[in-house]
Amino acid sequence: MQVLENLLDNFKNELQTISKIPDLLNLKAKYIGKQGPISDVMKGLKDATPEEKKSIGARANELKNQIEEIVSAKMLELEIKDINEGLEKNKIDISLTDSVLDKGLQAAGYHPVTLIQQEIEDIFISMGFEVLDGPHIEDEFHNFEALNIPETHPARDMQDTFWFADKKHLLRTHTSTIQVRGMKSRKPPFRFVGPGKVFRCERTDASHEMVFHQLEGMMVGENVSVGNLIYFMKTLLTEIFKKEVEVRLRPGFFPFVEPGFELDIKCLICGGKGCSVCKQVGWVELLPCGMVHPNVLKAGGIDPEKYNGFAFGLGLDRLVMMKYGIDDIRHLHGADLRFNSQFKSF
Ligand code: FA5
Repeated sequence: MQVLENLLDNFKNELQTISKIPDLLNLKAKYIGKQGPISDVMKGLKDATPEEKKSIGARANELKNQIEEIVSAKMLELEIKDINEGLEKNKIDISLTDSVLDKGLQAAGYHPVTLIQQEIEDIFISMGFEVLDGPHIEDEFHNFEALNIPETHPARDMQDTFWFADKKHLLRTHTSTIQVRGMKSRKPPFRFVGPGKVFRCERTDASHEMVFHQLEGMMVGENVSVGNLIYFMKTLLTEIFKKEVEVRLRPGFFPFVEPGFELDIKCLICGGKGCSVCKQVGWVELLPCGMVHPNVLKAGGIDPEKYNGFAFGLGLDRLVMMKYGIDDIRHLHGADLRFNSQFKSF
């Protein structure tokens, strides 16, 4: 009992000098470790009377618990102190420095693809569309199967698609995946657009990138017609270009629409004479679209006997090129400030 009497006071005195976690652990071991005084007392109990065993044993346990609690509280205090000291030491000054101002970056602006995306979202929101998002990493079902793209379709090829090692997941090759997710999560009638990055294993040239942007659109309801589709597409292009642009609609094949169309616009870079952007044909393929295939509606949980709809997939980068007269898509993602800063006042 005598050994135990001053133990807590001594422990508390020593604790006051501790400011580091390893020292605290040593102190704990010193008092309640296997070689410590409490263990010694417990070991000595074998020679004690039953009454002594009871009272001394109980006191020894009580002290052990008290010391453990004090150590835990101190540990928390020291851990918080360590974290705060670390934060203080690694402080990053994120305020603008003179060198940033010197480079002229203070007037930051949006990337032209973002500008077009925001503009188109606003146009569609004003026509009652929602704006949806979807993941970049997709599975076969959302990128292909649900869109009626059979296993033998060339789009599934290694040359077109960035597959993950499990051969089940991939970087989405188009924003049509958002159609599938949109259909599954709402009931007709509905209309939405879904912008985002898409990825294809392509050889780059003036009009092709490996990472580019699309904006998907879908409208499903009763008695939706090709006339509705053309109306929305024309409204979109007139609003974007702020003038009548020449368009042509030709048949186009996509497994997820029937009938399918390619909407081309007369090349605004060369006025239709032929250049590297339009590959000398005078027209730029901009907006594939069509009436949603019944199999796609079914995969989205929608009854094709009762509802129908249209869908389109707009290439945003090419639209930016047409709108701002950019002759090579690679400028858009070259991260060249001389190019990017031209858009900061838009
Ligand atoms: C599709 O991706 C279809 N999912 C579009 C669609 C949606 C059709 C809904 C019908 C209904 P396509 O592969 O043609 O289609 O690409 C659509 C647009 O993306 C093209 O018109 C073009 O503007 C743009 N695009 C395609 N490949 C590239 C590329 N490598 N670089 C830049 N833009 C591209």
